[in-house]
Formats: sequence, C-alpha cells, structure tokens
Amino acid sequence: MAGRTSRRCAHPRQRTMRMLSLLAAAASLACAPLFAGAAPAAAATATANTTAAPALADKQAFVNDLVARMTLDEKVGQLRLISIGPEMPAAKLMEEITAGRVGGTFNSVTRKDNRPLQEAATRSRLKIPIFFAYDVVHGHRTIFPISLGLASSWDMGVVEQAARISGLEAASDGLDATFAPMVDISRDPRWGRTSEGFGEDPFLVSQCSRASVKGFQGSSPANADSVMAFVKHFALYGAVEGGRDYNTVDMSPQRMYNDYLPPYRAGLDAGAGGVMIALNSVNGQPATSNKWLLRDLLRKEWGFKGVTVSDHGAIDELLRHGVASNGREAAQRAIEAGVDMSMADTRYLEQLPTLVKSGAVPMALLDDAVREVLGAKYDMGLFHDPFRRIGTAQTDPADVNADSRLHRAEARDAARKSMVLLENRNRTLPLKKAGTVAVIGPLADAQIDMMGSWSAAGVAKQSVTLLQGMRDALAGKGQVVYARGANITDDPRVVGYLNFLNWDNPEVVQDKRPAGDMIEEAVRVARGADTIVVAVGETRGMSHEASSRSSLGLTGSQLTLLKALKTTGKPLVVVLMNGRPLTINWEKENADAILEAWYPGTEGGHAIADLLFGDANPSGKLPITFPRSLGQIPTYYNAPRIGRPFTPGKAPNYTSQYFEEEYGPLYPFGYGLSYTTFSLSDIRLSAGKLARNGRLTASVTVRNTGDRAGETVVQLYVQDVMASTVRPLKELKGFRKVMLAPGESRVVEFPIDEAMLKFYDARLDYVAEPGDFNVQVGLDSATVKEARFTLE
Ligand code: NOJ
Repeated sequence: MAGRTSRRCAHPRQRTMRMLSLLAAAASLACAPLFAGAAPAAAATATANTTAAPALADKQAFVNDLVARMTLDEKVGQLRLISIGPEMPAAKLMEEITAGRVGGTFNSVTRKDNRPLQEAATRSRLKIPIFFAYDVVHGHRTIFPISLGLASSWDMGVVEQAARISGLEAASDGLDATFAPMVDISRDPRWGRTSEGFGEDPFLVSQCSRASVKGFQGSSPANADSVMAFVKHFALYGAVEGGRDYNTVDMSPQRMYNDYLPPYRAGLDAGAGGVMIALNSVNGQPATSNKWLLRDLLRKEWGFKGVTVSDHGAIDELLRHGVASNGREAAQRAIEAGVDMSMADTRYLEQLPTLVKSGAVPMALLDDAVREVLGAKYDMGLFHDPFRRIGTAQTDPADVNADSRLHRAEARDAARKSMVLLENRNRTLPLKKAGTVAVIGPLADAQIDMMGSWSAAGVAKQSVTLLQGMRDALAGKGQVVYARGANITDDPRVVGYLNFLNWDNPEVVQDKRPAGDMIEEAVRVARGADTIVVAVGETRGMSHEASSRSSLGLTGSQLTLLKALKTTGKPLVVVLMNGRPLTINWEKENADAILEAWYPGTEGGHAIADLLFGDANPSGKLPITFPRSLGQIPTYYNAPRIGRPFTPGKAPNYTSQYFEEEYGPLYPFGYGLSYTTFSLSDIRLSAGKLARNGRLTASVTVRNTGDRAGETVVQLYVQDVMASTVRPLKELKGFRKVMLAPGESRVVEFPIDEAMLKFYDARLDYVAEPGDFNVQVGLDSATVKEARFTLE
C-alpha cells in the first residue's frame, strides 16, 4: 500500500495537476468575497493579531494558548497529514482545511497550488496555518546526484550545498518542509532504497545527515528560503531482512546504538525539526507503535523536541503487522507510542475523538501531539506569516519549470564530484576530444533515469543525458555516433512492474527489436568509432522504494551487449548508472575503464563528459562496499571481528569465507581512482599513549605522484584491539579530501581523543576502554598504513 502510493508520490505531478486546478477553481469561488483585494501577507498579520499576537514572541505560551482554545475536532485535525492526490477530492480537501481539520499536506509543489489551501486555513476558526511538505531528497527542480552519489563525494560542502539549493528551490515553490534526509544505514544492496541513503558507514552517513539538515534548514527552518528537515526513517529501515522492502528488523541493542542510530541522532543534533517514523518493526514492535523507540529513546534519551510523522499509511498497517485488531486499537497504539501526525490514513480522524471522549486516550496525550505539530509550524515561521514561502500571486514565477530557475552549475559540480572511477586500464581515460566516440547503451539517452528516484519536481526533459553531454563536449572537435544496443530488461513482467501506475506515461519504454538485432547494430556502430562509451545499469525505478532485487548483475542483454562490444577490440569505457552496488565481475576484468556515475542528476551528462575527457578529475570514493556476488552479502567493511577469520596467504579451510569464490569484496568501502596517483607515508603518532582528556595526532604525508592535479580522500580508521565486547574490524573515524598539484605533498593530521574511541558496551554505557588501539590511514578501507597507541 505504502509502496504503491509512494511510487505514485515520487512522480505525482501529472496525477495531481487536474486535482490542483480544481482546487484553485474551488478556492477562487470560495474565498472571493473574503480575499478580494487583500494581500495574503496582510491576511496573515491579521491572523496573528486576532489569534494570539501578544504571545507570539514566546513559543511555548503561544502554543499553549492555542491548544487551550481548540476543540477536540480541531486538535485531531492538526494531526492529519494529507496526501494531495486522488485520496481526497479537491472540494472535500478545501472543506476540511476550512473546518480546521488538516494539519498539513504533501505533494502539492507550487505556490499557486498551495496558496488557495493556505487561504482556506486562514478562514478556519482559529486560523491555524497548514504546512506543505514534499519528498525533496536530492533536489527539487534542479536534481542533484542521488544521496548515494552525494556521499561518494566525501565532501560535506557538496552535500550541504545540494540540500541548501534543494531547500531554497522548494521554499520558493511554497513548500515548508521536506521528508529528508534519508539516513538509513544500508548494508544490503538488494534493498532498493539504498540509492536514497548515504551508504553503509555510521560515521560517513552521520556527517552527511548533519550537512543535509544544515543545508535544508539553513540558519533556521523559519527562514523564507529554508524548509524544515524530517530525518527518516526512524529507525533501522535499512536493516530490513534480506534487503526486502518493508520487511522486519531484528537487531541487538549494541548494533543499533553503535551502527544504525548515530545518523538519525546526528541529524537531530544538527537541529532537524521533524522525524519520519519507519514502516518496519524493530525487535518485534512496529516503529509506529514502538513506545520505546519514540518516547524512551527519541524523546527522553535524546531530548528530541520536534514533531514526528508516521510514514504513508503506517498506522493502518499496524493491523497487518498484527499488533492491532482494529482501527481503534491502531490509533490508540500509535498515539500512545508517540506518533504525532498520521500520514495519509484516516485512523486518527476516525478514532481519536471517541478514544479521547471515552478516556481511553487521555486528552493530555492528544495535547502533547498537537503541541508538537503547532510547535513545528511555529518553527517554520508559519504563525508569523502563513504565506512566508507562498508569497503573493504577483510574484509567482511565470513558468515554474523555467530553466532560469535551475542551478545547473552547482548540479554539474556536485555530479563531477560524486562519480567514482573504478577501473582505468592503461590510462584509457581521459579520452581525447577528437575522433569518433560510439555512445551506446540503454541508459545513454535516458533523460528520466539521469534523475534517479525521488526526483521531486525535477523535469526529465531538462536533464542532460550522456549522449547529449558527449555531443556538447565534442562539438566541433569530434564525432558522436549512437546505438541503444539493448533494453534494460527483456522480461515483460519486470517492465510491467517498473511501469506500475505509470501506464499513461511509462518510464520504461522497450525497443521492440529482437535483442540480437540491437546488439548487432551497436557492434556495427562501434566498429566505425575509435572508442566505445557504454551506459548500462538500472533504470531509476529499479533502485527505488519497493524495488528490492534478488540478483545484482546487469539485467537483460546488457552483459551480452558488453561482451559483443568487447570483440571489436576498441577501448571499452563502461559508465554505470545505478542506485546500489552491482556484481560487476566480468566488467571489472574486461572493461578498459569503469566510471560509477550513479544517477547523476540534471547535469549528469555534462558531468560525465567532463570526467571522461579530463576537464575534471574523478575524486569520488565508494560509500558502500561492492560485493563479488549476491551470496557474499553482507560485505560491509566494519563487521564485528570473529574467531576464525580468513587470512590472505593462509589455508582457507575452517575459516570464515565462501570456498567457491575469491575472498573479500569486489571493491572495498572508500575505494576510488583518479587520473593521477597518490602515495601515502607511514603514520606518525605524536605519542604512544593517550591520556583521558588528552589528545594525540596521527599524521601522514600524502603526495600526488602523477602528472595531473587531483583530489583524494585520506581516511582514518580505528580498531579497538581488545575490548569487553566484540568490536569491528575497523571503523571510519575521520577523513580529509585534499587537492594536490602534480608532485605536491601535504601533511594531513587527524586529532584523536577519548571521545573518538567510545562505543556502547554490553550495558549500553558509552565508554572508551583502556588498552591498545590500531590507527589505520588509507586511501580506501582495505589498503592502509597502521600504527598503535594505548589509551590509559
Ligand atoms: C513513503 C516513503 O517511505 C517515505 O520515504 C516518503 O516520505 C512518503 N512515502 C511520502 O512520500
């Protein structure tokens, strides 16, 4: 249910257009006498003045005063988060808002569409504004690389800027909040939502979480150019069993606290105003009815003061989880657990009034939830001015999709920095801007797929494909020839799945020719070229919500296409577009170069061409491990130590490994090449012992040993040599991205203190235990220098 709706939510605009124009028409009829001649901002001031203007400077007093004046129905109304779309007819929505029975909406994404809804709210008895939210995950109108790509930049400036611009664009379209960042740790690439997150590592994902929240909210979520961030999905959604979406999660408290919870905490510590609750259960209790999670951990232990929202239909799903036998129980369990707003289901609306009247749910509990919602609106600045982001009709953009509204330069820069060079045999890359390049592949000219999933208000027609990017780069200097070469899949069932609910405008459009004919044509085209650049991978729908996979290789005839192209003997450059690690063994051995482009966004095609031709030098590093095979999963680098580890160079028998295949990942966490090369000195430790409250420094010298300027990421890992509980093989604790000219070297220093060595022990005490620690520094997680110190 949530999958269906949210797949629809990901591309909601066409479906909601008709609904929104009806709304606008209804609004202009309904509010003509009231609003004639009155600027919304003026109406807003009147709102504040007539409701509780004297207390507006004092949030608590203001909110309490309002709650004291609300009826039961109005209170329940504030907890409703309505999905704009077919779920509620336009006229009914206006009626509900005017009656004060809606807290917020999501999926209406222009000022023009949101204005009549807010005007309806200002006509309600207490004139409480509604808020407008949307899934602005990695871009709003301008689409940046998917989050997994942004994380690959290991550049928090890039992550923050992508969120800042996304927030700014969203706010200028009348939005107040975003359901982002998505900071679920994902260690199982079968999970389609891996693409939406920042990878497998607690430290890196936490950094990205913090940077995103700062970006979305700017200096305050009340700013007219900011949106409130809702950190999601709380909690542990990335750990669904088998990587199967919506599946259950069962996890030890130690793993939870040490590995999976830190990114949510980091986002909240950075000031995120909201939390979206996960759809999965956590150790036997759905997150949506999980009192321990939402009250004990989130509120009491972490001190979160913002608002929580359920995920799409999740209160209703408590019935299917089998923890509520009817809607009444579901609503009661959710409100008791600490779910403030109910997203897109009717259980609160239907059940809370009687639950409260009967005393089953204390009014105080309802008031708490209402206070959080009103508090969030206060923090969004909506009580000061409900039209703060909607503005006046006179200042509406003439064309919301105007190219001039896009931030193309920033998107191109982010995309260049987010790609990872996996292979480059015989310095195949960079290519010369001359001769003929054959651009081939099902993703070479796929505008919609450049955007990746959850592409908000992005317009496919505005994204630059690889083909276009190569043509632009070679204009006047060389030639581009093109063939599609293969469909992404040859399985009609898969096509049907990917086009689910999109039959009016299918995303996956099959070339009807037989696979063999397409490959033959591609080989013919390639033979006439000097170099082959082939774009393969997954369509964006394959790395999405509800798009779990049971295999991780290239689908359909893509691999056959690559093999056929290889027979031409021309340099074969593979550009991967995908939202998760793939098992690309043949590609690794046979391609001359592989560039992992992820879904690079609006300016993706230009950015890829910049890298392929050397106008920019690849600097991305993998934020997630690439396995050799599906059977190897999980392959995350920071696994707990074990008693019988495999040791390279020693007999594998009775060690922990898979005997049929080579040990270790295909590409380790933190890996990525450059067009230049780097060397790393041994580690110099400023002292061999670290006192409590002291600090030591690990320094290395990194040198650019090649002939081009380039950036690399120096990574610091720490291993607790002996502890009271089993600790990870190593853990990322710091990183620095450094740009070096040819021959230049730089000393990189990592301060190390007690806080960096802390972990949650068996009693969940956050401690640093005395003893030895190994410090490792490398340009990826697998090849490292090592030194040791002792914590006293
Ligand atoms: C369901 C998804 O799980 C969630 O991430 C998203 O924010 C909501 N739908 C709203 O679109």
